[in-house]
Formats: sequence, structure tokens, C-alpha cells
Amino acid sequence: MNPEIVSLIAQPAQCVADLLVLGVFEGGALPAATAEVDVASSGAIRARIAAGDVGCKPKQITRLYELPGIAAKRVLLVGLGDAAQFGAARYIDVVREALKALRGGPARRVASWLAELSVQQRDAAWAVREHVVAAETALYRYDATRRKSDKPDGVTELAIATHDETSVQSGRAIAHGVRRTRELGNLPPNLCTPAHLAEVARQLAQEFPQVEAEVLDRAQMQALGMNALLGVARGSAHAPYLVVLRYRGTRERKPVVLVGKGVTFDTGGISIKPAAGMDEMKYDMCGAAAVFGAIEASARLGLPVDLVGIVPAVENMPDGDASRPGDVVTTMSGLTVEVLNTDAEGRLILCDALTYARRFEPETVIDIATLTGACVVALGKHATGLMTRHDDLAAELLAAGTEVHDRAWRLPLWDDYQSQLESGFADVANIGGKNAGAITAACFLARFTEGLRWAHLDIAGSASDEGRKGGATGRPLPLLMQWLMQKVA
Ligand code: BES
Ligand code: MN
Ligand code: ZN
Repeated sequence: MNPEIVSLIAQPAQCVADLLVLGVFEGGALPAATAEVDVASSGAIRARIAAGDVGCKPKQITRLYELPGIAAKRVLLVGLGDAAQFGAARYIDVVREALKALRGGPARRVASWLAELSVQQRDAAWAVREHVVAAETALYRYDATRRKSDKPDGVTELAIATHDETSVQSGRAIAHGVRRTRELGNLPPNLCTPAHLAEVARQLAQEFPQVEAEVLDRAQMQALGMNALLGVARGSAHAPYLVVLRYRGTRERKPVVLVGKGVTFDTGGISIKPAAGMDEMKYDMCGAAAVFGAIEASARLGLPVDLVGIVPAVENMPDGDASRPGDVVTTMSGLTVEVLNTDAEGRLILCDALTYARRFEPETVIDIATLTGACVVALGKHATGLMTRHDDLAAELLAAGTEVHDRAWRLPLWDDYQSQLESGFADVANIGGKNAGAITAACFLARFTEGLRWAHLDIAGSASDEGRKGGATGRPLPLLMQWLMQKVA
């Protein structure tokens, strides 16, 4: 079960929680709450620091038990490092590590004073909000497909010491969106099918009065001429859907449209992928998951924006009826595409979804997609790839990512790369050769977004952690929400 996160007004020494979370700087300076606990316990904390028993370097954890004069049974001290270098990234890291240390432990009701720390170049509201989001990230546990265990484990309630209930609430709204994004990403591909994504959209519309859902089926997409999208779905036994969500927080602005790649499993199709690590292609719908998360978080925040989410939901499978390398399809825009590699399917579903986005007369369109392995080669797992022709939009998105430490990095989208997509048999080919794969994928999408204020986020690396036990990260939801909130601030 995921813990409840609430605000708390209390003196740390008197607080009757199972455990208090406090920070310690290197070099002896104690944050206010830590100093209070130190005084109330007749100097127990300073004594242990002097004895060398407390790790003050960033993220070091020290546990203390039954301090005299302290109501809570346990105190967890987390090292904050040098006070002069306590910035946003370190703060988020420290909060996460402190809470991760509580997973599976005996403490159920936990109270944290970390949100009172002052963080360089950030205000107090930021610290509260990011504490909530970081705590949610750290305490999240995937158990949708595990045997139900009756033994409760770890934190059930986290109270954050602050007077700023508003920021706790907005943090919680964003955290819910991040949780939605991760949960959908982690759900196995036999359960998280295109139909499931459609069902989740309907559930969101049920749950939030300002959210509407519309689901287009194969016949409706055929009527619209979405043959690139439908071509990808041909090999799968699961029917494709185009899921459209709308959150109406205002009628006074043009909508922002978010388009999320929703490939619920990517085998590569006839251009089949190697077996090793193919399970990770269940994350190929993390763009879609982020769109759902953004709709949910915006609704919970009550943001005064008009937000449209478009999710082309398909599965990419090899089959007797699957599309072949060499096939030519006519997209909804009228452009024809030569499908030289059926594994470059993301751009094929996105191009039709982006064309569909035009009917909303958007102010801005952002697509979010686990689009290319090349982006992971270029940037690794740390940065989301950002490609856009619009310098102002690039600046906004980069700044939003930096603010909440969910960073993107811009790659060029120059026309110079466009010639790599030339085809002998159609208007454009769906692959651009071995060089600059992340950029040529974006160049392909650019052909369908002429005249739109559009940016592309490649989250192939950032959306999930590596390996057998890695999972969905919920990125780039924090970036997107920060960008949306800045827009209406
Ligand atoms: N879903 C993959 C991209 C991907 C790769 C995401 C690794 C996460 C981790 C995408 O559909 C794909 O297969 N792209 C191909 C494109 C190529 C055929 C031009 C790729 O990156 O190899
Ligand atoms: Mn692919
Ligand atoms: Zn894919």
C-alpha cells in the first residue's frame, strides 16, 4: 500500500510518531528541528556527532533509538553534506534516500522535518512540494501483480512538518500523477493492453468531473485515414484504439495537446528485436502513461488550463497479417510513408496522432515517446531528449525540468538531417540510417507538425530504470507539470 502524505504542525521533541526524520549538515551546523531535538535530549545528537557516530555526508543514514526527552521512539538522521552547497538536486536526493531507508522497516507513522530546510535558489513552497513528490517516489511499491501479503510493511503515513498545507496538496496532486504514470508503465504487457489504456481513460473521466474521454476504434480510425497507425496494429491480436482525454480547467485559452506513444508492447514486428531484454519493451507506452498522469495531476490541481491528451494505443507484433518492411502506407495527413523497418513504429502511430491534434487548434503540442534507442546512446538514462524548432518553447521546457530536477537536454532539429529520410517509393521513409537516430526520428515527426508550436520529448532512457528489477520512473511528469504550472502562474 502506498502511504498517505499529510502536513503536520508540531514540535519535533514532542511529536508522537514512530520515527522522526531530521537532517544533519557536515561541519556541525544543525538545522532548527535537529537542534531542538538535540537540546530536548540534553545534547544527545551533538554528542554522537562529536563521537563520529553520525554520517553527515550527503545521504548517509544514522538511526538513533529512545533518545531521552524525545517522545518518538526512533530518530533517523540523514546527512545533508556541506550547508553552503545545499541545492535542489541534493535536497531531492536526500529526501529520497532518507525515505528509502524506511522501506520495509518497523516505523509506520513517520514525521519529517526536512521540508523546513532552506534550499539554494528555491523557495519554501518548492521544498514542501518536492518533499511530497520525492517521498512518493521513494516509498512507491509495485504490487499490482504480486501475491497479496497481509503483513503491512513500511511507512503507512508520512507527516511533513509545515504550515503550508497548500503546497502539500499540490505535491500530492503531482505525486498521484507520477504514481499513475509509474503504475501503468510497470503493469505487464498482457494486462496493459490498448483496451486497458482505453479503460483507464474512461475511469479517469468517471473519477474527475472536468475530465472527458473519447475512444476511437479501428473503424473510426480507418474513416479518418490513419493508415500509418493502423499498419502498426495489424500484427496484433489486440485491437488498436485512439484514446482522447480532455481536462477542461478553463475555456479561455487554447488547449495544450499532449500526445503520448502508447505501444503496449514492442517486439519490433517483422523487423523483430533480439530476445535479450525484450521484456523492457513493455515500457513502450510510458509516453501514454505520462499523458494520463498529466491529466490526472492537472485535474487534482484544478489547473486553469485546457489540456487534451491523445494516446495512440497499439501493440507491435509479428504475424501473418503484420506490415512488412517495404510496405507503403498513406498517413492521415496525406503524406505517404515507406516502412523500411517495422521496429520504427512509434513515429508511425505518432504521425497520425499529431495530425489528429490539429483539430483542437492547439496553442502548443508536446509529444512524449520512448522513441529511440539512439536517444539512450546519446544521453543515457539521466536526461530526456528534447527536440523542437521553437527556441522559446525549448527554453521553457528546459527550465521546467531544471526547476524540479527532471531534466531534459536539447538536440538539434535542423533541416540538414531531413535528407536522411528520403525514400525512393514514398514521400518519406520511416528510418534515417545509422547516424543521429534520435534526431531523424524527430525529423520524421516534424514533417507532420508544420505550423504547430510543437516539441518532442524522447523518454526512451528516462522513463524506466535499467535491469530486471528496474521500473518505470514516472518521468517526465514532474517536468510537464512544472511547465504547465509556470504557464498559468
Ligand atoms: N521502442 C523503441 C525505442 C526504445 C529502445 C525505447 C530502447 C527504449 C529503449 C522504438 O520503437 C524502436 O524500436 N526504435 C528503433 C528505431 C530504429 C529501427 C530506427 C531503435 O531505436 O532501434
Ligand atoms: Mn520499435
Ligand atoms: Zn517502440
